[in-house]
Amino acid sequence: MEKREERAVEEGAAAAAGGEAEAAAEAEAEVNPWEVSGKIDYDKLIDKFGCQRLDQSLIDRVQRLTSRAPHVFLRRGVFFAHRDFNEILDAYERGDKFYLYTGRGPSSEALHLGHLIPFMFTKYLQDAFKVPLVIQLTDDEKCMWKNISVEESQRLARENAKDIIACGFDVTRTFIFSDFDYVGGAFYKNMVKVAKCVTYNKVVGIFGFTGEDHIGKVSFPPVQAVPSFPSSFPHLFNGKDHLRCLIPCAIDQDPYFRMTRDVAPRLGYHKPALIESSFFPALQGDTGKMSASDPNSAIYVTDSAKDIKDKINRYAFTGGQDTKEKQRLYGANLEVDIPVKYLSFFLEDDDELEHIKTEYGSGRMLTFDVKKRLTEILVEIVERHRRARAAVTDEMVDAFMAVRPLPSMFG
Ligand code: TRP
Repeated sequence: MEKREERAVEEGAAAAAGGEAEAAAEAEAEVNPWEVSGKIDYDKLIDKFGCQRLDQSLIDRVQRLTSRAPHVFLRRGVFFAHRDFNEILDAYERGDKFYLYTGRGPSSEALHLGHLIPFMFTKYLQDAFKVPLVIQLTDDEKCMWKNISVEESQRLARENAKDIIACGFDVTRTFIFSDFDYVGGAFYKNMVKVAKCVTYNKVVGIFGFTGEDHIGKVSFPPVQAVPSFPSSFPHLFNGKDHLRCLIPCAIDQDPYFRMTRDVAPRLGYHKPALIESSFFPALQGDTGKMSASDPNSAIYVTDSAKDIKDKINRYAFTGGQDTKEKQRLYGANLEVDIPVKYLSFFLEDDDELEHIKTEYGSGRMLTFDVKKRLTEILVEIVERHRRARAAVTDEMVDAFMAVRPLPSMFG
């Protein structure tokens, strides 16, 4: 959360100070695993990072290969960039399977909707392609970056695992692990191999560490790198060293995998492929000013129906006019409107979304009604999640996290 809030603060300040400051913020936009700030131009980011745009032809291919409608996050460009996703599809088409790898740094107890996006999408990929999945909980990372104790980090990892499981993953295809519990053996051997390939200058170049950063940070990147290699999981992929890996993640994680892809061929492994998302905007949108501790900047999965309604009504930044009369006359600016942005993430019906955009944009529909529809949709999603999470028992968490072979990995 902090990342997006910081970003919104910056953007708010830039907008307040006028065009010049805005241009400056744009020039300084920062996207790395620990900081997302400034006004992000996603096209520029693709060029800067050297990834590829996820175009319609790839989305059509996914539809053909999986015989199901592509997920809304694909249709609406939430996942918008990739690295070698086409190669994963080529291999899949030839009959070669792959595995999925994603993760979460357990830094907070309550997740917000933005946190769920990669997991909802990963669940869709798992179902559509019928492939195994490993989920890394980087309790070690958060302990080192967030000044959280080892014990607290481990506790949060288990709590977050419940939210992740509530997204509907199939236990017969999914292995969830915490770094504190799992690092060792084959995984650790791969970490050491990766570490030997990466110079200090290289990590400084990729991650921007300084002489003041503690050495835990400098040594962490191999931990996030090696789940990309099947041999890190001998209980799952023994003898399948050439199985390809696909990583769904938000684009701020790209630096880790740039490093991983750089070293993979030297270790005789495939480079992992990536499919990358943009960030879920804060309620206050691009001009809101908020503090990192402001719970009103996001919808949390623990929010009640009333919380959600109040937050949307009070805080969602709108491109609609401030009186009914003006709205009828001028219509809403959809580009900056947060309710419309949120609907484009979560309203599955393409026709209804188009209808709302046309009516609201032209002024025939009022902000109040758009917010009302958004509230209905988000309340339903959050309540469904809450019910699913309440049904996750400690035994289920243990089952997902047990080091075991997966019974129905492929097909
Ligand atoms: N570093 C990520 C975070 O802070 C967690 C993570 C670990 C991850 N491995 C990953 C995220 C793979 C996406 C894909 O949230």
